[in-house]
Amino acid sequence: MTLPPSAPAAGPAIQTHRLVKRFGSLTAVDNLDLAVQRGEVFGFLGPNGAGKTTTIRLLLGFLNPSSGVSTILGRPGRDPEARRRVGYLPADLAIDPHYTGHDVIQFFGALRGGYDVPFTQTLLQRFDLDPSRPIGELSTGNRRKIGILQAFMHRPELLILDEPTSGLDPLLQQEFHLLLREEVARGATVFLSSHVLPEVEALAGRVGILRKGRLVTVATLAELRTKARQRIDIFTAGPPPRGLFEPLPGVRSVAYHDGGVQLVVEGPVDPVIKAAAGLTIERIHTPGQDLEELFLEYYQGSDP
Ligand SMILES: Nc1ncnc2c1ncn2[C@@H]1O[C@H](COP(=O)(O)OP(=O)(O)OP(=O)(O)O)[C@@H](O)[C@H]1O
Ligand SMILES: [Mg+2]
Repeated sequence: MTLPPSAPAAGPAIQTHRLVKRFGSLTAVDNLDLAVQRGEVFGFLGPNGAGKTTTIRLLLGFLNPSSGVSTILGRPGRDPEARRRVGYLPADLAIDPHYTGHDVIQFFGALRGGYDVPFTQTLLQRFDLDPSRPIGELSTGNRRKIGILQAFMHRPELLILDEPTSGLDPLLQQEFHLLLREEVARGATVFLSSHVLPEVEALAGRVGILRKGRLVTVATLAELRTKARQRIDIFTAGPPPRGLFEPLPGVRSVAYHDGGVQLVVEGPVDPVIKAAAGLTIERIHTPGQDLEELFLEYYQGSDP
């Protein structure tokens, strides 16, 4: 089977303008302005109930917005041409339990006017899936794999993935990450909703954080890292002099003990390291940047 010809890549892969979705008195998506460029992996984060799934359902045209507009690949989400060029992995794949994996492949293949048959065979092998079994008999993880299969099988230009690795064991998560990277290398754009921070850190270039339907930040991971706090434990020969680190830029807390000092630094650590160079240092320990803490601050709504 042949794939339908794609329009030349131009404009953002996803765009929303003042997108709003209300359910009764609840505003699930609140004035969302978002642009995801072609070829990027965009991580979409936020606490439970923030409006991530609702946003995705709006993008794909499964829900009508209360106001505002959105496009995928320059078209309305419900446009059949847009749908053909998108792979969507829902948080919960609702498929008739009597369908087998084969049925799903045939069904979605027909819906999209074609799919990549050899690639789909490879995916079945990579994810160790038996396509002859009814969906209703599969374990949660195996149903998830069927979801992945249908999202990737036509090698879409845009992948919209709602918590793709939930329910997958660590090995399969790795396999999935590998697959995602391959598709990105091929030129695909990815919109990835996830609660798994290491996953987002490993895969995404930019992230958007949604809270109560509002986008509270959009930044590259590199930008977020410069804001993330870092703990530095400096162990010195003898008690360190007091007052050395307090005035330095970025130093958020200083705790002395007889064998050294514990610092929390926000942003570049260069001033701290240069100041520490005057001491006799036995050892330095840095547990690493705590991006998780930064994300939690965004989630909870304090000013990071
Ligand atoms: N069909 C609906 N009718 C009424 N309220 C809804 C509907 N769908 C979603 N909501 C509400 O909208 C809000 C956002 O839900 P949504 O599923 O988009 O959150 P989410 O960010 O995907 O959360 P999670 O991380 O738990 O998946 C929630 O308060 C939810 O209860
Ligand atoms: Mg959700």
